[in-house]
Amino acid sequence: MLEVIKTRRSVRKYTDREVDDKTILQLLESARIAPSGHNTQPWRFIVVRCPETKKALAEANHNQTWVGRAPVIIVCVADLGCRVKEPGLSVDENSPQFSLKQVIRDTAIAVEHLVLEAENMGLGACWCAWFVQKDVRPLLGIPEDKYVVALLPLGYPAESPDERPRMKLEEMVMFEKWEDR
Ligand SMILES: Cc1cc2nc3c(=O)[nH]c(=O)nc-3n(C[C@H](O)[C@H](O)[C@H](O)COP(=O)(O)O)c2cc1C
Repeated sequence: MLEVIKTRRSVRKYTDREVDDKTILQLLESARIAPSGHNTQPWRFIVVRCPETKKALAEANHNQTWVGRAPVIIVCVADLGCRVKEPGLSVDENSPQFSLKQVIRDTAIAVEHLVLEAENMGLGACWCAWFVQKDVRPLLGIPEDKYVVALLPLGYPAESPDERPRMKLEEMVMFEKWEDR
C-alpha cells in the first residue's frame, strides 16, 4: 500500500491509448466503497470523453490546456442534497453551510481513493481544483445544490514526474496535544 502511495505523482501528460469503460468502472469501484460520515456517500462522478467538453473544462480550470488532452476527465461532485433537503438551494465557494463542508470532505476521500487506485492500475491522474463552480457546472448541467470538488484528468501516463518536496514528519506531527513551534 505504502509503495503505491509513495510512487503516485500528479500526471499531466497522457498517451493516446484509450481508457475503456471497463477500466473506468473498475477504477470507480474504489470510490464507491470509500468511507463517509454517516455512510452518506454524497459523491457523484461524471465521466467525460467529449473533446469539446474536455476543452471547456480545461479552460474553466485556469486554462490549463493539458487537462483537455487527457483521454478521460472524471468530474467529481459532492451532492449536498444527501444531507440538506431544501428546495432551490444554491451553493458556491462562499457558502457557509457545515453540511457542505461535510459532503466536500467525504467526496474528497473518494477522489483520493480514485487517484490511488489509478496509480495501482498503471493509470496517471491529477487532482484539479483551480476553477469556480459557476464556470464548471453549466458545462455539464450540474444543478446549483451540487458542488464540484475536483476534475480528474486521467489516462495512461506519458511522463514520470519527479517527487515533489514534502514536509518532514517532525514538522507536522505532535503527540498528546498541540505544540506551538
Ligand atoms: C485539491 C487539489 C487541487 C489541485 N489542483 C491542481 C490544478 O488545478 N492543476 C494542477 O496542475 N495541479 C493541481 N493539483 C496537483 C498539485 O499541484 C500536486 O498534488 C502537488 O504539487 C504535489 O505533487 P504530486 O501530486 O506529484 O505529489 C491539485 C492537487 C490537489 C490535492
